[in-house]
Amino acid sequence: MIHELKKMKQTITTFLFMVVTAYAKSQSPLAIPPLLEGPVFDLQVQAGTTQFWPGINTPTYGVNGNILAPTLLLHKGEEVELNVTNNLSTSTTMHWHGLHVAAANDGGPHQSIAEGATWSPQFTVMNNAGTYWYHPHGENKTDLQVSKGIAGMIIVKDDAEAALELPRSYGLDDFPVVIQTKSFDVLHQIQIATHADTLVMVNATVNPYLDAPAQVVRLRVLNGSSERSFKIGFSNNMTFTQIATDGGLKATPYETSRLMLAPGERTEILINLNELQGESFSLMNFGSELPNGIIGAQTVGTMATLPGYDENPLNGANFSLLQINVTAPTTNAITTIPSSLVEVLPWNQSDVNVERTMLLSPMEMGMANMVEGPFGINNVQFNMDVVNEIIPLNNIEIWTITNQTQIAHPFHIHDVQFYLIDINGASPLPEQQGWKDVVLVMPMQSVSFITKFEHFADPITPYMYHCHLLHHEDEGMMGSFTVVDPNSITNLTEDNLILPFPNPAQGVINITSNQRLSPSETIEIYNTEGKLLMVEYSILENNIEINTDALPNGCYATKLNGKFLTRFIVQK
Ligand code: C2O
Ligand code: CU
Repeated sequence: MIHELKKMKQTITTFLFMVVTAYAKSQSPLAIPPLLEGPVFDLQVQAGTTQFWPGINTPTYGVNGNILAPTLLLHKGEEVELNVTNNLSTSTTMHWHGLHVAAANDGGPHQSIAEGATWSPQFTVMNNAGTYWYHPHGENKTDLQVSKGIAGMIIVKDDAEAALELPRSYGLDDFPVVIQTKSFDVLHQIQIATHADTLVMVNATVNPYLDAPAQVVRLRVLNGSSERSFKIGFSNNMTFTQIATDGGLKATPYETSRLMLAPGERTEILINLNELQGESFSLMNFGSELPNGIIGAQTVGTMATLPGYDENPLNGANFSLLQINVTAPTTNAITTIPSSLVEVLPWNQSDVNVERTMLLSPMEMGMANMVEGPFGINNVQFNMDVVNEIIPLNNIEIWTITNQTQIAHPFHIHDVQFYLIDINGASPLPEQQGWKDVVLVMPMQSVSFITKFEHFADPITPYMYHCHLLHHEDEGMMGSFTVVDPNSITNLTEDNLILPFPNPAQGVINITSNQRLSPSETIEIYNTEGKLLMVEYSILENNIEINTDALPNGCYATKLNGKFLTRFIVQK
């Protein structure tokens, strides 16, 4: 009964809300971010303003513009250079979500870009054709900087994709669809971590429509929201075909009428508009179909709920994301959907070197903490100077993510794409089959994936894994890992172990090798950002003595003659 009443109230508020937003802004054509091609990209991160309501200027951030960022077109095998200039009056970072790059190029919290500075990672594109994205990632500012507008799509193309008959003309039959909801205070300033994200936008266009030709059309859908999940489908209930997951094309297309998309996830779908010229319908969110625990559902939590959550009329509601008007077909239109796509070869479970478990858990005990946090991973919170996992290069690993909270968390890992092997004891759904870098872990459930840590080793600079609910990430629901090449580590074998002493160090630290060293050998000390630091040291027979007085508290890596030797911590 109570549930029924609540539902009725919900329906009425949803209706009123939709009338109000409809008046707030009449329909606008969907903005299509400009497409940039390399090999050199100039990305100016800047502040500006955007009118989400007519006549009201809201301060926003963007790349080469007022809000959002250009779509970057990359080709597999191409050598690119991305010059990211920070014109904000605060530091930022830029992470290439889903791309397989060296840790120093990854744009995590350790690659901070100071005000006025330019960061210029260069790398070879190694990913398969697919839809990726880029956004800031650091210093507890991810949610604010993404919410204020810094987010862009990355399209990777390759030969396998080019060999298929697929729509691929950007803005003509191949469209970026960046779904976001945002929260505003009474002065129409963007605010975060409120659960009051009541404004829906696609490509930062409120109440958008798209004129799409009567043929097979490709939508690249990114959930770029801070915390809301969507269950997408169409108002006319037509089926559509999923062709790609986060990390590229699937083996077989999957026909369905609904797909779930958690924050950070991407999917590519084909919609068949061949027979629909002159018709209009909507890409919808079917929020009423999301189960308890997922932000976006009618309810989150059983014993406690999030403050402000129940008042948000979007929760549990079905609403339009993007109206689609079907227009005349283009010349050379694609009119069919391929029956198979590319080869997807996950690793073999019998080749697994290590299994790791990641517990998603509240850091404090209490019913409210089960939904509100603060949350940690394996009972610790993110620390810039700690490396949580050290992974040998070329390891094939199974990670099991166990959610011990009452809220669903989208777990994301950098560096790799993974393949899901187990969803709480069951096989992954067809829509989850393919390369992934984000997986939504339901309350009190576990998921397992298999992956391989290849090509890039760096004993100093870590990669991240974290919850992609951005305020959870900012609050510390994140860990770090380094990938280390065992062949570049001197003397780190079982019977030849090097242990710095005392560790953590105050003043002098000793590193003892069981080989005699010459006093002329070079010792280098690096911080977690990979910067070489000047320290005094001396070598006597098999002992290295390092004076740590000049080093701030933190974690450091030592190299002997250019090879990684060991790690130590300074704590004064
Ligand atoms: Cu989309 Cu670690 O981020
Ligand atoms: Cu989370």
